[in-house]
Formats: sequence, structure tokens, C-alpha cells
Amino acid sequence: MKPYFITTAIDYTNGAPHIGHAYEKILGDVLARFQRLRGREVFFLTGVDQHGQKVQQAAEKQGISPQTFTDEVSQYFLKLWEQLVVSYDAWAATTAEKHRSVVKNILSDLVARDWLYKASYSGHYSIRQEQFLTDKERGEDGNFGPEWGEVVFFEEENWYFRLSHCKEWLLQFLEKHPQFVTPDFRMNELKNAAAKIAGDLCVSRPKSRLAWGIEFPFDPDFVTYVWFDALINYISFAGYGSTDEKEKTHFEKFWPCNHHLIGKDIMAPAHGIYWPCMLHAMGFADEQMPQLLVHGFWNSRGEKMSKSLGNIVDPKLLADRYGASALRYYMMRDIVMGRDADFNEERLITRFNTELSNGLGNLVQRTLSMVHRYRNASPKSVTLSDSFEAHQQEDLAAIKEYCQQMEASQVHAALETIVNLLYRANAFVDTTAPWKLAKDPAAADQLDAVLITLLQSARVAATLLLPIIPVAAEEILEQLNLEPLSLVGTITIPELPHDYVARQPTPVFPKIVLEEN
Ligand code: ME8
Ligand code: MG
Repeated sequence: MKPYFITTAIDYTNGAPHIGHAYEKILGDVLARFQRLRGREVFFLTGVDQHGQKVQQAAEKQGISPQTFTDEVSQYFLKLWEQLVVSYDAWAATTAEKHRSVVKNILSDLVARDWLYKASYSGHYSIRQEQFLTDKERGEDGNFGPEWGEVVFFEEENWYFRLSHCKEWLLQFLEKHPQFVTPDFRMNELKNAAAKIAGDLCVSRPKSRLAWGIEFPFDPDFVTYVWFDALINYISFAGYGSTDEKEKTHFEKFWPCNHHLIGKDIMAPAHGIYWPCMLHAMGFADEQMPQLLVHGFWNSRGEKMSKSLGNIVDPKLLADRYGASALRYYMMRDIVMGRDADFNEERLITRFNTELSNGLGNLVQRTLSMVHRYRNASPKSVTLSDSFEAHQQEDLAAIKEYCQQMEASQVHAALETIVNLLYRANAFVDTTAPWKLAKDPAAADQLDAVLITLLQSARVAATLLLPIIPVAAEEILEQLNLEPLSLVGTITIPELPHDYVARQPTPVFPKIVLEEN
């Protein structure tokens, strides 16, 4: 089976992580864990974007060096991902020497092949926003609005990448490769952006203006523009451009990337325009282009999260308060892949209490209690009658549906499938009423069949939840004393081992109760 390569965007370390950062890491982790369950070898890469103006300014404000500042913030990100059980295979920190040298080699190669040139540009420049302004930025009165602060006219030399040379290629590439971006409704946006490519891309900043970046090896007065630096992380940390044989083999094995997981704000132009054009210039063939998986935004109280509105949702606080399982579950459940959603703490609690605590927790708890009470922990293996057989067939159908949904990155839909399975299993308890069967010696076989069917449903649910809430799902499998099902190849639900003994249940999802005040 082809190995699988997943990346997330690398986060700016100019401040603490917000809930959008957490969502993307969790989503990447969920997809990586799912692919591993399917038997694929997975390389999941994530990390931090440590260069650029924002980091330099944040460090200046604190009176410390940018390296010290970004190291500290990066540590905070690392610890949070650990708390949220995000298990990546490699950590992309862009100040790492390995990355810096790959970026420099790429710059040298591109300049040697005339993809980069130096030119001077003069124009209006906003000191506050640190960018050149074009006529697009002019207001209706023809002037630059107050949001730009002081605007000056000046001339500056810089290095440019021949983006305009890639325009025709990119337009054709997008036309021929609809799978380049998921969800497919994003493709139009991308084609429009490609059609608008007018000039070349400035890929440097003079050191006098920005010191905190990767130096141009052939022109030390300039550093690399942060996007050019950041995008390269996807290949530099996968082994590209390495002289080490093991690293080279690693790159050949995993590239092209199956999912560059990104938010909608960084699709066009960064990932959908600059990145494929950069790769094209480096000599990557069309079949060697990666694929983008674009997610929507988490908003807060109906508005975009922003420092000025003071509505930034802090994932650390939520993880401390409710635990990793509750947060992971909610973030995967309450957003439709590709669309925006509103973060709502009450919904997090409701989802947890109704679906995990009542739905799954209750199923496991009562099944195991009955197995102990009526069968001394070991139900007798019996042939399932048709109605039980039918229940198990429905579970099997649910597994297949779940796998298809997960392969299509529709995690919210896959969770809906699990919730329906749990609903069916709990309804099965009520309709078969094992407590009545237990009173009737003639129904002994039937009682065993009910208990076995329920143990199996609980095992299915726990298996399918392994990618989403790994710690809790493993705990449930331990209590059930059952191995997870194999999701590799043809899926079956194997019989319980002949010497099966259930463990004692302990609550895995104690209800979240808010203190009244
Ligand atoms: O853009 N909801 O970093 P970043 C969901 N360093 N996702 C969100 C979000 C929200 N409210 N806000 C941001 C960068 N994101 C660059 C990336 S990649 C080579 C360099 C997502 O810290 C955003 O879309 O601003 C991006 O995918 C990720 O969080 C990091 O954003
Ligand atoms: Mg951003």
C-alpha cells in the first residue's frame, strides 16, 4: 500500500496558539491515526513558522532576541500538542539548521537557473502594515485610508521569483488536476486567483527592514520572505535536498504529500499559487504535485476571532477544564469539513454528555455490568440467531461507511455514523431486555447472544473512535478486554476468544456538571 503523507500548516509563533491551530493539529492527527489503522505507513509533519516581522516585533517588545522568544513560544505549542495527544512524526521548526540549508540551496539553484532576479521597485509603502501598497488599496477618494497609517514613497531593491512564467502552466495544471484541492468548491477560487497572476513574486526583504529570516547565500543584505521560507518546510523536513541516503529515501517514499491541511485564508495565493509554482520551478513534475485539503474557520460568538474583539478561544484552557477527549471529540463533531463553525462551549458539554457519556459510556457500563452479573464475566459462545446476525451486519455496514467517510476526510460524517451505531446498540439493550431474559432459564442462550452482540458493538464503536479519542477508546477496549478490530483489507468482526473474561467497568466519561453560581 502506498505510504501516506500529511502535513498541517506551521503556526506563526508570534503568540499563544488559538483554537484554530488546535483544530488543524487534531484533524491532522485524526487522519494520520485512521490511515495507520488501515495499515498504511504514515508520515505526519507539523511544526512552527518562526521567522518574520511578527516574531521580530514581539521579541523586541519583550526586549529579548527573536530566537529566545520563538523558542519559548514554540515550547508552549509543543506542550499543548502533547496534552491534546497529537502525535506527529516530525517537527518542522523553521529556524532548524536542516531547514535553513535546504532553503539556501533552493535559492542558489533557482538563481542559477534564472528563476530569481534582482530589481528595484518604487511605490507607496505603509509603515504600519510593512507592505507596499498598490492602487487596489486606495479608497474611493483615491487616497490610502487611515488603516494604513503613515504612507511613504520609496524605492527598494529586492529579489523576485518569476511567478508570471508559471501562469500558463498553472492554469493548465489546475484544469487537468481537479484533485489538487479538496473540497472541490474551492477550485474556482483558485482558478480565478491563477488567472489574475500579473507580476512576479517578491521573495526577499532587505535586512535593514527585516533581520529575522534566512539570509540569501549569494546576497547577504537580504533575507527570505517568510512565505517562501515557510512553504519549503513541507519538503525540507521530509528529506528533500539531503545528502543523507536515509533521508533521501524517506523523501522518495512519501512525496508527493496526500494532504497539505490548511485553513481557507492561506489557500490563495500561498498554497494554491506560490507553492505549486515554486515546486514547478524546482523541477517537480505535474504528477509530483501535492494536494491541498482546505478547512474552514472556527469563529467565536458569531464573529471572526481577533485580539481586538477579545474573543480568542484558548485551547489550553479548554483542555485543562474538560480534558483532551472532550475537546477533540467536539472539534471533530461540530464542524462540517471545509465549512466554518461557531465555537460554543455549551455545545462541547452537550456533545460530551449526550454522545460520549450517555451514548458510549453508558453502553459499555451496562453491558459489562450485565456480563458480570449474569455470566460471571464470561458469556458462553453461542451461534447468533438471525436477529442478532442482522444487528451485527448493520455494525459491519457502519464500519464500511465510516471508512469511506474517513478516506474522504469527512470526519464529522464518520462521527455521525458512530453516533447512529451507538444509538442502535442502546436501543438493542432496551428491546432485548436482558434483565428479563436473565429470569428465564429457557432463554439462557438468547441472553448469551445478546451480551455477546453488545460487547461486539461496543468493540466496534471503540475501534472506530481510536483515531478521534485515542486515550478513551483504548481504555474502553481494555475494560472490554478485547483487541480493536482490524481495519486492514476485508473487514470482519471476529468471534470473542473462547476463554474470554470481561474486566470490571469504570466510568470513562464522567458527566460534565457545571457548578451553579
Ligand atoms: O498562516 N479556524 O500561520 P497561522 C481554523 N505560518 N483555522 C484557523 C483559524 C481559525 N479561526 N485561524 C487560523 C500561518 N487558522 C502560516 C502558515 S504554512 C507553510 C505557513 C489556521 O498561525 C490557518 O488557516 O496564522 C492555518 O492553516 C493555521 O491555522 C496556522 O495559521
Ligand atoms: Mg494566519
